[in-house]
Amino acid sequence: MKGLILSGGKGTRLRPLTFTRAKQLMPIANKPVLFRVIEAIRDAGITEIGIVIGDTGEEIRQAVGPGDRWGVNVTYIPQSAPLGLAHAVKISQDFLGDERFVMFLGDNVIQGGISPLIRQFAGSNWNSQIVLTEVDEPQHYGVAELDEHQRIKRLVEKPRVPPSNLALVGIYMFDHNIFTAVNAIRPSWRNELEITDAIQWLVEHDYQVHPYIHRGWWIDTGKSSDMLAANDRVLAEIGYGVYGYVDRDSQVDHLVLVEAGAEIINSTVRGPSVIGEHSRIVNSYVGPFTSIYHHTVIENSEIEHSIVLDNSRIRDVPGRIQDSIIGREVEITHSPIKPKAYKLTLGDNSKVGLL
Ligand code: TTP
Repeated sequence: MKGLILSGGKGTRLRPLTFTRAKQLMPIANKPVLFRVIEAIRDAGITEIGIVIGDTGEEIRQAVGPGDRWGVNVTYIPQSAPLGLAHAVKISQDFLGDERFVMFLGDNVIQGGISPLIRQFAGSNWNSQIVLTEVDEPQHYGVAELDEHQRIKRLVEKPRVPPSNLALVGIYMFDHNIFTAVNAIRPSWRNELEITDAIQWLVEHDYQVHPYIHRGWWIDTGKSSDMLAANDRVLAEIGYGVYGYVDRDSQVDHLVLVEAGAEIINSTVRGPSVIGEHSRIVNSYVGPFTSIYHHTVIENSEIEHSIVLDNSRIRDVPGRIQDSIIGREVEITHSPIKPKAYKLTLGDNSKVGLL
């Protein structure tokens, strides 16, 4: 089997973070989502992986390289514009050939990996396997309706009146018949070739599409609240340990990962959380569910349930920072200069919640 990761797209819902960075490279518990996807596919025994890239392709090539770091072979497949998930399949036909494959959205995180799913599909004669999970607000997702024999009756994209609460997770398995389907369908109202339409086409033409119900968690990191939710989930399951330096005046609990070169000085760090390589926490409090990426400094400040990217400085902040995502090379400081006022330099689409 081969793997196909979709890493093009625009990432408009994650602006301003995605003005300067591909959303698939946003770190969750200090590891880019895309790297987690590559690992999940590799762990399922697949070594030939195609990555569909768009405008941010160069950055993704730089970060991932040829794949040898994970023991896989990566082929990059440029997509001229984000014309839909089924369009991404269409342009990948040369790479995929006649092999069965798993397609994984490059911004999705799933609990427990995909090895059982791949095993089940590889040993079957199904033409496709889709992954469904129960969600609270199905109207925001692609939704499946099953019949009394648990077979797929119908798939609908973001239905106003959902036929069930079973949403399509961003992981799909296909054989070569999917190419007939993507060539048969027409673009939707949003001018995209929809993968739900292609799967619906398979169902209507009597191909076997098997629904797999996923019981663990699954998160599509498309919005900032989803990024924090994914960070919470993954932080609760990473390996902890101290690989950096913790001084005697600090308290670091056992659910914390302190990466190599990080320093914790006169501070309290509560887990689950991660302090990235060469970051410094000085006279500060880092609360649960926080990921501090590499080369960042937190000094005389308090932060909790947040993600801070690399090379940022948070110093002398009087209140606690919470539920926040802070980009790269950001500076947040307390200014003693009068007038006493908020002094902000914010990019387009920034969001600030003041007291
Ligand atoms: P989406 O989250 O549906 O789209 P997007 O990345 O454009 O985000 P937004 O809606 O915030 O603008 O995409 C899911 C994944 O698939 C994501 O990793 C990007 C990728 N993708 C492609 O590679 N090609 C495409 O044509 C589309 C639509 C998405």
